[in-house]
Amino acid sequence: MTKKTSRRAFLAKGLAAGAAAGTANSAAAATPDPLITEVQPWASGLGDGVDETPYGLPIQFEGDVIRRNVEWLTADTISSINFTPIHALDGTITPQGCAFERHHSGAIELKKEDYRLMINGLVDRPLVFSYADLERFPRENHVYFCECAANTGMEWAGAQLNGAQFTHGMIHNMEYTGVSLRTILEEAGLTAAGDLKDKWVYVEGADASSNGRSIPMEKALDDVLVAFKANGEALRKEHGYPVRLVVPGWEGNMWVKWIRRIEVMDGPVESREETSKYTDVLADGIARKWTWEMDAKSVVTSPSPQSPITHGKGPLVITGLAWSGRGAVKRVDVSKDGGKTWETARLAKPGEKMAMTRFYLDTNWDGSEMLLQSRVMDETGYVQPTKAQLREVRGLNSIYHNNCIQTWLVRTNGEAENVEVS
Ligand code: MTE
Ligand code: CO
Repeated sequence: MTKKTSRRAFLAKGLAAGAAAGTANSAAAATPDPLITEVQPWASGLGDGVDETPYGLPIQFEGDVIRRNVEWLTADTISSINFTPIHALDGTITPQGCAFERHHSGAIELKKEDYRLMINGLVDRPLVFSYADLERFPRENHVYFCECAANTGMEWAGAQLNGAQFTHGMIHNMEYTGVSLRTILEEAGLTAAGDLKDKWVYVEGADASSNGRSIPMEKALDDVLVAFKANGEALRKEHGYPVRLVVPGWEGNMWVKWIRRIEVMDGPVESREETSKYTDVLADGIARKWTWEMDAKSVVTSPSPQSPITHGKGPLVITGLAWSGRGAVKRVDVSKDGGKTWETARLAKPGEKMAMTRFYLDTNWDGSEMLLQSRVMDETGYVQPTKAQLREVRGLNSIYHNNCIQTWLVRTNGEAENVEVS
């Protein structure tokens, strides 16, 4: 009850401030606004027919909401990475059309009819599934984020890329439909494998890179999906059409696309992707490995460098995304003064396991400079570290697994910039 009253009071105050600041609006009220007084072209003729766009694209005015590259990071379009425009999206679901892509040897085109999935190794009966075979197993639906381990990797040494899309856009969050890997492994039979505790699966893709990764059996039997739909429709070619692996909460590299083979083994392969890549060299030169889980992380998506404040002072919605590879997001705090003081943000929905959570801080901007930060806490009690805390443990040699608190300097004119606070 008291909460409601104070919220209404806040809104009233906010609107009053907005009206006072909006001198341009009051002036417009004195002169007739042709957008109201004149019949507009869109109201004086017919619109487009329903058959114009059998498969729809965003309206032309949203042409800015697109994936982007960082030129110096993308030597060619074959071994490539591009970034989700998280600064321009809201809610939590990433449309496939603008979700980031990472390919080691380009995106391949594989027809459903040509698709085969082999299960071999320490199984009772090695099997090969066609796409149609996979469709006959019981299906599941889950929303999960997929974050490349290299997300935010360019920020270790200092604030570098000016935009949430570039610092945090190697992530997408979609609803997957697929068959649980457990179901498929059980179909092949696991008694031949003996004690499952020390067993692994080795998964590889049909592209030339194969992107082979070892996954401990415990995870393979827990929540891994062999997925063929994202957000209700077929995977896009670039996301692994027709079938990819979904490894909830674990680094994107393990989400093998165009998956063609799963081998049950009695140890990990120690492939390229889990030795020379996707390991973290610490300050003393020794590397961490098997860093599968994505640590809890959050970022303010607006205001941010690509999404400045354009309306002046008054009511301001600060918003962003939070996620954790170890479970659900529990709480997000926002700071306007570089981490000195914190306010708890409102979660749009209670956090869900290994899925993105949208947060909002409905505030009143007095027009002064802000050092905006967000800090997530997940259901395990883990709190997102500062950059200094992370560097203390990990040194400066790392690329992967940078989950530190991000700072945007918001200037008095509403423009924002990527900065570091000490
Ligand atoms: N699987 C195959 N077969 N080939 C690849 O190049 N890239 C990996 C992973 N799976 C890759 C792959 C990496 S590093 C990431 S971050 C994710 O796929 C990215 O998935 P996306 O392209 O759907 O965003
Ligand atoms: Co990756």
